[in-house]
This record gives sequence, structure tokens and C-alpha cells, in this order.
Amino acid sequence: MNSIRPATPADLPLILDLIGELAEYEREPQAAVATIESLSQHLFGAGLGQGPTARCVIGEIDGEPQGLAVFFHNFSTWKGKPGVYLEDLFVRPAARGSGLGKVLLRHVAKVAVALGCPRIEWAVLDWNEPAIGFYKAFGAIAMTEWTTFRLTGEALANFAAGEA
Ligand SMILES: CC(C)(COP(=O)(O)OP(=O)(O)OC[C@H]1O[C@@H](n2cnc3c(N)ncnc32)[C@H](O)[C@@H]1OP(=O)(O)O)[C@@H](O)C(=O)NCCC(=O)NCCS
Repeated sequence: MNSIRPATPADLPLILDLIGELAEYEREPQAAVATIESLSQHLFGAGLGQGPTARCVIGEIDGEPQGLAVFFHNFSTWKGKPGVYLEDLFVRPAARGSGLGKVLLRHVAKVAVALGCPRIEWAVLDWNEPAIGFYKAFGAIAMTEWTTFRLTGEALANFAAGEA
């Protein structure tokens, strides 16, 4: 049976493993540098000073953890309301196709609707056809006119320091 529960600090090693498995699937295992400490601070602790930065729920099949969803609020000035940004959705390979991904995504949708958030957004790698098909099956649309930008690492530090 599929079930969802909020993650607790006792889940931190599991969460770190699942994040690593997703990074492996997304062909960037070296990019997953999160630690138990950083996840603890931002999922269960003070975050940036005002409480947890993001929320995590664990998906289980017959009581065995098999996946997770991690999400947080963003804000739309056009809507004048917060939305939900889905950072990670992952189900372990052997557990896929049992409806757990749908239950996890529906949980995030329920949170959004309950809080009056008009939308959920996320990014999908363009080669990830199985996930793209999964999302489209529920009415999600690809924002093909929009390109995600990122300023990070040395470029971010240099720009912030006025050196670029
Ligand atoms: C994408 C993922 C979360 C989906 O989870 P899952 O547990 O395998 O999917 P589910 O079993 O919940 O699928 C539920 C429904 O979606 C449908 N579906 C799944 N993949 C589909 C696809 N590619 N095209 C059309 N429908 C699809 C199923 O047919 C099923 O429909 P039903 O409810 O009518 O029977 C999971 O496969 C996964 O973790 N993949 C690797 C990581 C990943 O890609 N994460 C997303 C990164 S953005």
C-alpha cells in the first residue's frame, strides 16, 4: 500500500541517499554535495533564520521508504501569491510504476491547493522522457519559452564582490 508521511530528522540519512540516487539518475552525481548538516538546517532547523527552508515528505510502499518529494514556496508577482516549487520528486527504480510518484505529486498538489497557491512549478531535464510523460499525464505543461538561468560558484562570488 502506498502512503506518504512528513520526513523527520531520523530520515536525514535516507533523504541524503535518495537525493544522491536522483542525482545519479540525472547524470550529475558529483553535483549532489548536500550534507546531513545542511539538510538538517534547511528541512528541520532554523533554515535562513525563520524556520525550515523546504519541506520533505517520504513515500512508502508497505511501510518501506521508496521515494520522496521536496518542495518550498516561491512567489509570483503576476499572481500576487506564493506558489510551490517542486525541487525533487524521486521513486526508487524497483518501486516505479506502482503509483507512488503520483501519490507524492498529488500530496504536493493538495498542499498547494490547501494554501491557496495557484501553481506548482519544477524543472525537468529535456532527455527525461519518462518523467515528462508522467507530468503531462496529469495536465502539467512545459514552459518551453522560458529558460532557467543560474549564477553560481566563482561567477556568483565575483559578481557579488563587484569584480565582474
Ligand atoms: C517520475 C517518477 C517520480 C514517477 O513515479 P512512478 O512511481 O514511477 O510513477 P507512477 O507509478 O506514480 O505513475 C502513475 C501514473 O502516471 C502514468 N505515467 C507514468 N509515467 C508515464 C509516462 N511516461 N507517460 C504517460 N503516463 C505515465 C502511469 O501510467 C500512471 O497512470 P495511472 O495512475 O493512470 O495508472 C519516477 O519514475 C522517478 O522517480 N523517476 C526517476 C527520477 C525522476 O525522473 N524524477 C523527476 C525529476 S523532474
